Amino acid sequence: MAKKRTAFFCNSCGAESARWYGRCPVCGEWNTLVEETIVEEKSSAGKQTVKKTSARPAPLNGEGGGPPMRVQLGIPELDAVLGGGLVHGSSVLLGGEPGIGKSTLLLQAASAMAKASGSVLYITGEESLEQIRMRAQRLGVLSDKVFILAENNLDNALEQAAQMDIRLLIVDSVQAVYLPDISSAPGSVSQVRAVAAACLQAARNHDLSLILVGHVTKEGTLAGPRVLEHMVDTVLYFEGERYTAFRLLRAVKNRFGSTNELGVFEMGEHGLSSLANPSLLFLGEKKQSAAGSSVTCIMQGSRPLLLEIQALVAPTAFGNPRRLAVGFDYNRLLIIIAILERKLGLSLGNQDVYINIAGGLRVDDPAADLAVATAICSALKGLPLPDKLVLFGELGLLGEIRTTGQLNRRAKEAASFGFNEIVCPKFKTEKNPPIKFIFADDLPHALKILNLI
Ligand code: TYD
Ligand code: MG
Repeated sequence: MAKKRTAFFCNSCGAESARWYGRCPVCGEWNTLVEETIVEEKSSAGKQTVKKTSARPAPLNGEGGGPPMRVQLGIPELDAVLGGGLVHGSSVLLGGEPGIGKSTLLLQAASAMAKASGSVLYITGEESLEQIRMRAQRLGVLSDKVFILAENNLDNALEQAAQMDIRLLIVDSVQAVYLPDISSAPGSVSQVRAVAAACLQAARNHDLSLILVGHVTKEGTLAGPRVLEHMVDTVLYFEGERYTAFRLLRAVKNRFGSTNELGVFEMGEHGLSSLANPSLLFLGEKKQSAAGSSVTCIMQGSRPLLLEIQALVAPTAFGNPRRLAVGFDYNRLLIIIAILERKLGLSLGNQDVYINIAGGLRVDDPAADLAVATAICSALKGLPLPDKLVLFGELGLLGEIRTTGQLNRRAKEAASFGFNEIVCPKFKTEKNPPIKFIFADDLPHALKILNLI
């Protein structure tokens, strides 16, 4: 007879404790502990356990190893983020907010993979077979080698999977399917953890690759991907603002590749398409010679990305001046405004300052600082910057322009888009630079060169 007990689980990190706390003692998040019933089975590992012979220590340089066998999923950006394709037998967790496009991406990947290597089973706990068929038809990815199973009971689903000859198993999503042996509700920490463990076990037993889908919300209120991150080989996050068309795919953990790669997709009428040249998207609508607009080049993973920074400076109507940043760190904006005031004597105390990254991207690369400062100055003075100019460099509190990484790569990207001047910190350029460099030591120097002060 199974023994029942309850315990408290943290929704954020999955830690278990015997009593309730307002703040998780492990990760320090507030109000994340929920009570769940745990059923302890006598043979807790379940029916699918295969008895293993005990492992033996072996020298590191022994037989085996070599490059992993990879399967191309046929979607270039997804393959690149995975490190050059899906490693056979590996497990991937794809996390993202609801409605961001996870199911769309995987449906496209499933059909591309089926074409290239073998059958795929797509277990869905969220949509019906008809809904998925309709979507696949619209996306033009109907395939007789992709099997859809609309089933919430994971035991049944894995039983079916065991009888099939498949190469890839997709479970959409870990929050929607459940194991009947566990009494807590679908989506709870213990369910999600057990669901993932059962899928991993099944994948290992039948030598399959596994992709799990997990929903996360901005507040992190759903139990999910966080507690699974250590169980899988690769964790991908799918991000983007829902009202803009582009989506970013990022690896936050990858046992078989780097986590620096970033995939850029565009969501269109026919699903997601890889954007090999994302700079085009972010620069596409830049107006010529407008005051308050500058172009910078940031690094997104290993890839340079050109984008436009827009600034608006308007007199404050009453009270305190407002500062607002969309797609840029608010505190960094305050620092840049303080530098402009102290080091250049600009008076922004009676001006509202708004910053927007065109295209809806979020910029974390400090190399964008110089372009932000220049855009604010250009907006304040009403003087446009030259059209073919790119700026990058990190600003220090003394107004100095600090060097950033990958300067040559950024310069190349700018040159390939027809820009002909770069203002940046001094560095050792390549022999025949593709573009004219203007080296600036500090912010006043840069703005003087640009005739803004
Ligand atoms: P979906 O893949 O269902 O999201 P998730 O599985 O992450 O919850 O994507 C749903 C959204 O994508 C939906 O709001 C509409 C949009 N979409 C398109 O714009 N074009 C398309 O061709 C498809 C299939 C979806
Ligand atoms: Mg979905």
